Amino acid sequence: MARLNNSKQSGGIPTHVAIIMDGNGRWAKKRGLPRTAGHTAGAATFRHITRYASRIGIKYLTVYAFSTENWKRPADEVNALMKLFHKQLVESLTDFRDDDVVVRFIGDKSGFSDNLQKLIAETEEVSKDRNGMVLNIAMNYGGRDEILRAAKLLCEDCMSGKISADDITKEMFAQKLYTANQPDPDLIIRPGGEARISNFLLYQAAYSELYITDTLWPDFSEDDLIRAIDYYSKRNRRFGGI
Ligand code: IPE
Ligand code: IPE
Ligand code: MG
Repeated sequence: MARLNNSKQSGGIPTHVAIIMDGNGRWAKKRGLPRTAGHTAGAATFRHITRYASRIGIKYLTVYAFSTENWKRPADEVNALMKLFHKQLVESLTDFRDDDVVVRFIGDKSGFSDNLQKLIAETEEVSKDRNGMVLNIAMNYGGRDEILRAAKLLCEDCMSGKISADDITKEMFAQKLYTANQPDPDLIIRPGGEARISNFLLYQAAYSELYITDTLWPDFSEDDLIRAIDYYSKRNRRFGGI
């Protein structure tokens, strides 16, 4: 906590942090374990870091758990991930309740089993009136899908005569994204060392600061989060100005 106060003095902590939770497979491989063991370890990190983020005063946390492209993986890995999501959701309901976290899911929920969809709906419902950090879990999420969906929704509004195409603004567009009414991410963290965005928050990331670390997601610690925030607090954000 003391270290966090330091980072506050040097520029404040980000309002919205987004994390690409990458490196589970490599973490497992290094230990001679199956990739799924890496996902289990990554899930524990997710719960721990989420609670920590809420306790240090982050207002919005968005985590990338499963992309629209991750269905390409072998069926046994995808099945194991779906099982893990189910288990984690059930178990983390208590953690998140204790920390007053509002849980939301961003992505195309219709891609999941009925069971998982029900659990997702329940999780959102029981947490919606809480007052703590907003946690967006990006599952079956793709930035391009999200943008396309927004375009289709606006198109419907045009066709029905609610709006005209000329009147569409950036704000109206943002209102059709999964993250409507939320601030853009200030800081995007990518563990696992890859310096790419992998279809995450393409619209919202226009001016996000990027922090990439070689630490693999299952090893990502409270100190790693503090390091990322320290890095963020020293950035000079110009948003195209000088
Ligand atoms: C991220 O870890 C988890 C998901 C994409 C579901 P990976 O499984 O991509 O781990 P690496 O990148 O292969 O190490
Ligand atoms: C991004 O990781 C998606 C998630 C962490 C959920 P990937 O492992 O799927 O990304 P690439 O394939 O390295 O770009
Ligand atoms: Mg990966």
